Amino acid sequence: MKPQYSSEPTDKEKFTKENDQLYTNFAAVYDVVVKVLPTWKQWICRAVPHIKGPRVLEVSFGTGYLLTRYADKFETYGIDYNEKMVAIAGNNLKRKGMCANLRQGNVEALPYEDEFFDTVVNTMAFTGYPDGKKAMGEIHRALKPGGRLVMVDVNYPLDGNRLGTMNARMWGALGDVLRDMNGLFQAFGFEYTDEQVGGFGSIHLYIAQKL
Ligand SMILES: C[S@@+](CC[C@H](N)C(=O)[O-])C[C@H]1O[C@@H](n2cnc3c(N)ncnc32)[C@H](O)[C@@H]1O
Repeated sequence: MKPQYSSEPTDKEKFTKENDQLYTNFAAVYDVVVKVLPTWKQWICRAVPHIKGPRVLEVSFGTGYLLTRYADKFETYGIDYNEKMVAIAGNNLKRKGMCANLRQGNVEALPYEDEFFDTVVNTMAFTGYPDGKKAMGEIHRALKPGGRLVMVDVNYPLDGNRLGTMNARMWGALGDVLRDMNGLFQAFGFEYTDEQVGGFGSIHLYIAQKL
């Protein structure tokens, strides 16, 4: 089955605001679901062995589950658009006796210097951004040459299998923006690998190195 990529949302501000309202309403539930759902944890934790320091940024950390798995090993920064998510993630880190430089903000305007990070981590979030080029441009700018983007996200299975394709389409139908990530990584000159880590090939781990 062939991939049917989404179009970028036309009203980007509305898209972001509506998503943000959902996250505000469900942040507390989201926190519990991520902690107890083994599949989700397994998917996003696949990012951890690929993180290299010393300076790491997680973009769109949500309630911070993944941060609690590595933040104490690096000089760790995090940014998320949703204020409630930022507050919950801060508490989750504190409970574990950990800390990180967390703040609220938008992937489209990362408040960091050029070439500042060795790794940018991004899990289950890129398909929720309204402008893939803008988001990728900012991530690319913030990475050091030789730095890497470690991303886990939903997309079509590479072999076009039916179950994985249906799974990816379901995410698209729920509002996620499924993109040609191959084209996007190439447009920014990343060298990358794409490993399927779940969901019948619909969950991908991308390791993209900035040249
Ligand atoms: C599905 S959650 C993923 C959270 C976490 N990374 C995980 O894997 O469970 C998506 C996150 O992206 C954040 N987000 C959405 N739009 C954003 C934007 N424009 N800039 C930064 N973060 C954004 C949301 O607030 C939310 O916390």
